[in-house]
Amino acid sequence: MALPAARARGWAAAVKMAQRRRHAEAPRGSPSRAPPGSRAALYVHWPYCEKRCSYCNFNKYIPRGVEEAAMRSCLVTEAQTLLRLSGVQRVESVFFGGGTPSLASPNTVAAVLEAVDQISHLPADSEVTLEANPTSAPGSRLAAFGAAGVNRLSIGLQSLDDTELQLLGRTHSARDALQTLAEARRLFPGRVSVDLMLGLPAQQVGPWLGQLRTLLGCCDDHLSLYQLTLERGTALFTQVQRGALPAPDPELAAEMYQEGRAMLREVGFRQYEVSNFARNGALSTHNWTYWQCGQYLGVGPGAHGRFVPQGAGGHTREARIQTLEPDNWMKEVMLFGHGTRRRVPLGQLELLEEVLAMGLRTDVGITHQACSCYVCPVPGLGVSVFPPKEAPAVRPSTSWDRTSCCKENPIIEIIGLL
Ligand SMILES: C[S@@+](CC[C@H](N)C(=O)[O-])C[C@H]1O[C@@H](n2cnc3c(N)ncnc32)[C@H](O)[C@@H]1O
Ligand code: SF4
Repeated sequence: MALPAARARGWAAAVKMAQRRRHAEAPRGSPSRAPPGSRAALYVHWPYCEKRCSYCNFNKYIPRGVEEAAMRSCLVTEAQTLLRLSGVQRVESVFFGGGTPSLASPNTVAAVLEAVDQISHLPADSEVTLEANPTSAPGSRLAAFGAAGVNRLSIGLQSLDDTELQLLGRTHSARDALQTLAEARRLFPGRVSVDLMLGLPAQQVGPWLGQLRTLLGCCDDHLSLYQLTLERGTALFTQVQRGALPAPDPELAAEMYQEGRAMLREVGFRQYEVSNFARNGALSTHNWTYWQCGQYLGVGPGAHGRFVPQGAGGHTREARIQTLEPDNWMKEVMLFGHGTRRRVPLGQLELLEEVLAMGLRTDVGITHQACSCYVCPVPGLGVSVFPPKEAPAVRPSTSWDRTSCCKENPIIEIIGLL
């Protein structure tokens, strides 16, 4: 598919200008005033990787070759279809995740963003994140993604210890990761996140805290700390099961987590979600949408979404799951315009469960602001569910302070971070 390069460049330039304005004028992460039903976040799944990491059970494939033009055309088509079905008029963030989306061509990223901006509106200051693996993302490629419209990077650094990186089956060294991080910060100042894992087999608290300290000397304003989940079916799971590696020690992992979050707090990071830390207001607005139970569309093989489809009543929020396997997904997109495998209308109880489970992960807990989109607590602990159009007016909260959000409605004053 031919990319209208001039428009894509125009959109990317507008992003850069808006970023500069925003740095000067406003804190990041400020809530939008558009009605909840008309806005959404968009997740785009790139399903391919160079090599299988030993711990990973994400929906990813190691292909002999990628038919990128076909994949690009299908991602564009599915984004257009889901945007039409949802009636979303404003996309407030886009997240290219994977798999390894930094292996995709910047043209593919630009084509998706361009399509989104044509069908609905992608404001120039929308957060557009790309997950980048150190070896697939040298500086020149990162710059090309920036020119395509990406304005935030999430780097899968995982560890700063080469032995651990080998255990994890990563294709990069600690040095590669630090080089990528430095390049990323030069190109996307204030907009780079890194993922660091903890609780690996045989990992000890002191050396892990040493890694975190090193990282704090060179990281940007966002960090994710992920405790290893030993996933059934992965190489790491088998090694532990056979006794070739010691099982991760949950007590040590808890100590790493507690000491790690204390260290981050001391240097000004806010823990805004169980695994996520930001300073200078650099919260991920995309992930925040998930945790606040906002609408999101999921495009690409195996992507998930949650939105209220328009037409046929248009009242019920649905979970949508796209076909997992890329070749099958592409065939379906070519035939039907989308590769949705399952649609699950969400009942009152499921909506409430989601609001609770998501809100408890955050530091603001369950806020009136999040609840009022779909769930309104009534005396006797019953709940009423409103489609976004009929929801009571959202009372804007002036800060992230839990008490100010919830004091108007004490029933939903629930403290977060689980
Ligand atoms: C979508 S994944 C992978 C993104 C990218 N392909 C990479 O490898 O960096 C995003 C993050 O989830 C974390 N992750 C993946 N599998 C995990 C597991 N089994 N346990 C804990 N964290 C995991 C890793 O930190 C990873 O960077
Ligand atoms: S961790 Fe990332 S790079 Fe490794 S297999 Fe999973 S998705 Fe691919």
